[in-house]
Amino acid sequence: MYRSHNCGELRIEDVNKEVTLAGWVQRVKDRGVLTWVVIRDRYGITQLLFDEERSPKELLEQSKTLGREFVVQVKGTVIERESKTKNMETGDIEILVSELRVLNEAQTPPFTIEDETDGGEELRMQYRYLDIRRNPVKNNLMFRHSVAMEVRKYLSEKEFIEVETPYLIKSTPEGARDFVVPSRMNEGQFYALPQSPQTFKQLLMVGGMDKYFQIVKCFRDEDLRADRQPEFTQIDCEMAFVDQEDILNVFEGLTRHLLKEVKGVEIDAFPRITFDEAMKRYGNDKPDIRFGMEFGELNAVAQHKDFNVFNSAELVVGIAVPGGASYTRKEIDKLIDWVKRPQVGALGMVYVKCNEDGSYKSSVDKFYDQEDLAKWVEVTGAKAGDLICVLSGETNKVRAQLSALRMELAERLGLRNPEEFAPLWVVDFPLLEWDEDTERYHAMHHPFTSPKPEQIPLLATDPGNVKANAYDLVLNGNEIGGGSIRIHDKKIQAMMFDYLGFTPEEAKAQFGFLMDAFQYGAPPHGGIAFGFDRLVAILGGQETIRDFIAFPKNNSGRDVMIDAPANIDEMQLKELNIELLVSESAES
Ligand code: AMO
Repeated sequence: MYRSHNCGELRIEDVNKEVTLAGWVQRVKDRGVLTWVVIRDRYGITQLLFDEERSPKELLEQSKTLGREFVVQVKGTVIERESKTKNMETGDIEILVSELRVLNEAQTPPFTIEDETDGGEELRMQYRYLDIRRNPVKNNLMFRHSVAMEVRKYLSEKEFIEVETPYLIKSTPEGARDFVVPSRMNEGQFYALPQSPQTFKQLLMVGGMDKYFQIVKCFRDEDLRADRQPEFTQIDCEMAFVDQEDILNVFEGLTRHLLKEVKGVEIDAFPRITFDEAMKRYGNDKPDIRFGMEFGELNAVAQHKDFNVFNSAELVVGIAVPGGASYTRKEIDKLIDWVKRPQVGALGMVYVKCNEDGSYKSSVDKFYDQEDLAKWVEVTGAKAGDLICVLSGETNKVRAQLSALRMELAERLGLRNPEEFAPLWVVDFPLLEWDEDTERYHAMHHPFTSPKPEQIPLLATDPGNVKANAYDLVLNGNEIGGGSIRIHDKKIQAMMFDYLGFTPEEAKAQFGFLMDAFQYGAPPHGGIAFGFDRLVAILGGQETIRDFIAFPKNNSGRDVMIDAPANIDEMQLKELNIELLVSESAES
């Protein structure tokens, strides 16, 4: 038996017990006549005592040879501590050691394994196994596990079945590039790793598994951000014989269950807003509704004066920043510089200070009098003491710019409290999205999403305005899930492929299996996938998903610990015929 107890469990009631512990050396405090050693395992830390009076001489000597992160096993007696500490759960006791065994020595770690470490991000990624010994990372992984358990519990109780779907598949379009895997046995051919199990879960519905879920890895070759990894995990779900309302209810139930079980937070029915409304009120399809600062559209009250910037703009829109009237000229100039940064891209910003005495002072006083500005105040809901920030330009661009400003200011004003949870559904997404580069429509969600049936005729005349039975679940300004009711009719699916620019041959080659399946009794179905990493991070009060993934990739998509991706040797290339393919295509 390596251990009778773990390093986090002994208390004052255990005094006089003979125990065996094992763990890593966190700290050695050598005081000559005695040594204190703190050892750590996953469960906590315990202090060991070696002392001149009560321990054999050799044992005291041996304790002084211990280094940080040595793996040790000790036997000893639990004794009450003279100076107790509340800083550790085992702070009332220590172990008077009678036997010490070094199970493994360790080199000095490249950073300190403490809650506050001196190691930079890249170094910690390189030695992730050491980082995992630190409480913040360890706790995040344990938290992730508890969320996964609650997901499985909730969905299993609702009769969902977890089914695994393959990783070596053919491209499933979710809007990113595929990671591909060459096939040795099928010369010159490639598998694609799934961007999601979308088509398989639909086939499971045809197969009669009417409530499916899977906590599953997905792979997308796209640019990375704090909330994106090239391989990430979804809670992927699908149901048959349901409409949108059923899906929203079931998965609102799941989210509410998680909030209650892992955060102790009870939330009423989630608000729902349409995509169009979200864009109008927040400039964003994943609004953070923990705070206000809603958009006020000012065209009607700000245009047709002599200010040409506004007159020529498609949209003039503003937000009221609480308490912003006290900003100095310098602070406001800095804000203007912030919106003009290339990442935001505004050309400038007009502002109105709503003074406490009820007067207004704007950067465009030349064009607007107090009466005009009072209308702006009304539209933006500004109060005395607020600052109205106004941007103008092309609708989509200006909304994105003002949304970025809204989020930035909320962050600065401390309005994004990570322990407050504000979920909402965004519904009625457009079916199609115009892509400037390719000059054609793309599926906004994916090509299997059903248009709202009553809007199908509109596809021929005004495709950009057709709405889909598609929805996103948003939590604290993050898209944590998205799904849709699917097309289950072969003819409509063929029509969709046609709108998306697939020739019938291409559609057959890529998705023939799905179209075939639709001929054999496909039930009406729909589903959703949650970004599991995102969900866990947000429930954990953070937004960087890397911190909740055991072995994440860095910003360039590299695993710096195992050094991947890496070259493969020529033999492997030959075996896979990749060299051959490249040289053949170069020749042709
Ligand atoms: P979608 O593409 O919206 O839908 O993905 C679902 C959720 O997955 C998360 N997500 C990511 N998380 C981390 N890193 C990434 N690179 C990443 N990409 C997406 C997001 C997102 O909301 N098959 C459909 C679902 C369906 O229709 O049922 C799908 O994959 O939180």
